[in-house]
Amino acid sequence: MSTPTRADIRFWFQGEVVSLSGISPQKTVLRWLREDRGLTGTKEGCGEGDCGACTVALGSLDPTAPQGVRLRAVNSCLLFLPALDGKALFTVEDVAGADLHPVQRALVDLHASQCGFCTPGFVMSLWADYQDRSGPPDRAEAASVLSGNLCRCTGYRPILDAAVAAWDYPPVKLDRQPAAQALRSLAALPALSYRHGEQTWEAPRSLDALADLADRDPGARIVAGATDVGLWVTKGLRDLGPLISVGAVDELKQIRPENGGLWMGAGASLNDAFEALVRAFPELTELADRFASPPVRNAGTLGGNVANGSPIGDSMPVLLALGASLVLRKGAVTRQLPLDEFYLGYQKTARQPGEIVVAIRVPPAVPGSAFRAWKVSKRRAQDISAVCGAFSLVFDPRGTVTQARLAFGGLAAVPARAPQAEGCLVGHPFDDVALAAAREALGRDFSPLTDGRATADYRRVVAQNLLTRLQAEVSAGAPA
Ligand SMILES: Cc1cc2nc3c(=O)[nH]c(=O)nc-3n(C[C@H](O)[C@H](O)[C@H](O)COP(=O)(O)OP(=O)(O)OC[C@H]3O[C@@H](n4cnc5c(N)ncnc54)[C@H](O)[C@@H]3O)c2cc1C
Ligand code: FES
Ligand code: FES
Repeated sequence: MSTPTRADIRFWFQGEVVSLSGISPQKTVLRWLREDRGLTGTKEGCGEGDCGACTVALGSLDPTAPQGVRLRAVNSCLLFLPALDGKALFTVEDVAGADLHPVQRALVDLHASQCGFCTPGFVMSLWADYQDRSGPPDRAEAASVLSGNLCRCTGYRPILDAAVAAWDYPPVKLDRQPAAQALRSLAALPALSYRHGEQTWEAPRSLDALADLADRDPGARIVAGATDVGLWVTKGLRDLGPLISVGAVDELKQIRPENGGLWMGAGASLNDAFEALVRAFPELTELADRFASPPVRNAGTLGGNVANGSPIGDSMPVLLALGASLVLRKGAVTRQLPLDEFYLGYQKTARQPGEIVVAIRVPPAVPGSAFRAWKVSKRRAQDISAVCGAFSLVFDPRGTVTQARLAFGGLAAVPARAPQAEGCLVGHPFDDVALAAAREALGRDFSPLTDGRATADYRRVVAQNLLTRLQAEVSAGAPA
């Protein structure tokens, strides 16, 4: 007997449940707001998640969040309409009451807006962050919150001042109870099965149903946060055909400790996944902060990053160095595969048609091991890596390297380990001789490409220099 489904998209918006049908499931929330609803406060800048002009906030049920609703800033230019199903949407039009909200008031009073094009996006990033805070961010925290918002004319100093000063005004927090009530009733409805011509969006609620759907329609595209997939529509102008969303499957969002290591559901947001990884491996703090931006990390998932397998992706070198493995499922059959064996070639993975990534398992750190990860890019925040390196070394009590995992993004067609450089370290102390041999071997492990981000020579030298930094820090016992 098939499970009942529902044909319309329903979400909480401006004080009521909105029901949508007869619209392409590949229409973005940004276009719907501006073109269909005439709500032009939310701006379009880049259309690819880079500028933050389109930032909105999404509310979803979460028993650990205030009043049971978790609020997160996301980029509406990359969000497909059906991704709103079962959620609450807040735009800049919702922020001001009879008076400006404190974050708006502070932006005005501190002259933090000139042409104003970017301002709604800044307002929404600050507003979403404000709701969950009990006190002002410091400037570093504010910079991190706003790292996905670009301003071309005002300059960031007054904007950061405003982010902090918003807390000098009488507090105005959102009453999330009406949204919570609506979201609870939406959660009780059958799962969404949306059709518009040949375009479909299935949003099963259980892992079994997801695995079954993907197996029965292996040609359908799996979609998670759409921070990669969305660009294929907004920039590639592609029709993605049938889509199967992992977004409504709560089991896939679970992150839990497992035998001293971590089980991270493929549908966990990048933010949640990195939070767990940083707790286990504090050496990842900087890389986690520099991965994309808060709105991209709120929408994007770890499973999407791994499954997409971009040669310049940042989580893969980290997971390769940590010895992670993948849990994959096709129909009723589940298998486990070391991440080492997943990437076969450019945009080619060991994932079979109709197979889904269920989880990423990270083993516990080996006692006596050292771990480091560094991202090298032109900008500090919101940039794609030229090179990303992640390294795990295990030493015996005499200081001899017994295991080495040196993993890189940006040096090959896939994220990959450096077997020859690793071979130069194992069985030796990590001294200058071993370092020189490993640096030299790295040149044999990889033949990097020249592209708009970096030249081949630059990439090679940067990778070698990361090994030098690794040796300097590890031998000095320096903190990450
Ligand atoms: C502005 C911007 C900045 C970015 N910065 C970075 C960065 O700094 N570092 C970095 O590494 N990446 C970055 N990205 C890329 C992107 O955010 C990540 O790759 C993200 O993790 C993709 O996850 P998603 O959930 O959005 O995947 P989606 O876009 O939904 O899907 C990506 C791919 O994975 C497949 N897929 C997703 N989930 C599953 C699953 N469970 N099983 C099987 N297949 C699945 C999809 O079919 C698709 O092929 C950036 C993107 C943007 C737009
Ligand atoms: S329009 Fe630039 S991030 Fe969406
Ligand atoms: S105020 Fe003009 S872009 Fe920011």
